[in-house]
Amino acid sequence: MTAATAIRHLLDVDEWSLNDIQHLLEIAETLRGWSDPAALRSLLRGAVVVTLFYENSTRTRVSFELAAKTLGADVVNISASASSVTKGETIRDTVNTLDALGANIIVMRHEHSGAPNTAARWSKSSIINAGDGWRAHPSQALLDLLTLQSIFGSVAGKKIVIAGDIVHSRVARSNIYTLTTAGAEVILCGPPTMLPKTFAAAYPDRKVSVTFSIEEALARADAVMALRIQKERMTGGALPSLREYRQYFGLTADRMQAYAHLPILHPGPMNEGVELDPEVAHGAQSYVEHQVANGPFVRMAILLWAARKDDALLNMVRLANTTGGAEA
Ligand code: CP
Repeated sequence: MTAATAIRHLLDVDEWSLNDIQHLLEIAETLRGWSDPAALRSLLRGAVVVTLFYENSTRTRVSFELAAKTLGADVVNISASASSVTKGETIRDTVNTLDALGANIIVMRHEHSGAPNTAARWSKSSIINAGDGWRAHPSQALLDLLTLQSIFGSVAGKKIVIAGDIVHSRVARSNIYTLTTAGAEVILCGPPTMLPKTFAAAYPDRKVSVTFSIEEALARADAVMALRIQKERMTGGALPSLREYRQYFGLTADRMQAYAHLPILHPGPMNEGVELDPEVAHGAQSYVEHQVANGPFVRMAILLWAARKDDALLNMVRLANTTGGAEA
């Protein structure tokens, strides 16, 4: 995490230690247990949170907006396609303009890896990376870890399979970091065009391995996370067809009969019938809706951390516990 006096940006979760990650998840768990909405609304009252999205989103944008409103912030949503970005405005111009208009926190998604770092260079607001290119999706990885910890207690020693288009996935990169930092072993699985055999070599000090066999991966797994097959990659020749991907790598209803005990996660949006069948996506072993439901708590925790109000929340909880106030 950034130094005590600096603006707090969350650009990539790989800047965080295990203590930082667990502190953030403790805040999220505390928020989940808190039952005094009026007290929460005092925490970011007067703050302005801007969601600045250059790429489409359902879960991330809505849950950051809900998180900010629950904490009492004023929220402004900007879609780049409806802003002066279309007239040639640069990232520097955009964040300088938002700063001048009173923004305190800018939650930013961009199709280019590193764009939030460019914003942070020029911004007086905290920049929160809501997903950039192929590089990082910190809030997704944090909510995935919260979900897995709610299943297992701790992920230490657990084998987590991440299956799909790994090489193009910011979710995979951020999850590899958070999961292995928390002590899990990550098994990556996908076709060689989406998962080079040498990919694990990028993580020499971490428990990361590669397999091209979904059966081998599932046989070793304690949980499995399917990733979206990005249909736009099809034109690049990465896959012969989506039907073949489903046959060789999909979490199909038939294949998963032998693995009905395995928790299944997916960051969304899902291509049902490709990386997993609808019966699996919405079945008893699916934790997809738990992931979505954890999103606002993790994003509230991130906003409080960025505004340096994370300790204020914990103090509020301690006071409530000693005076018999709201449960946390
Ligand atoms: N998981 C995720 O980032 O979903 P959205 O694109 O809907 O935000």
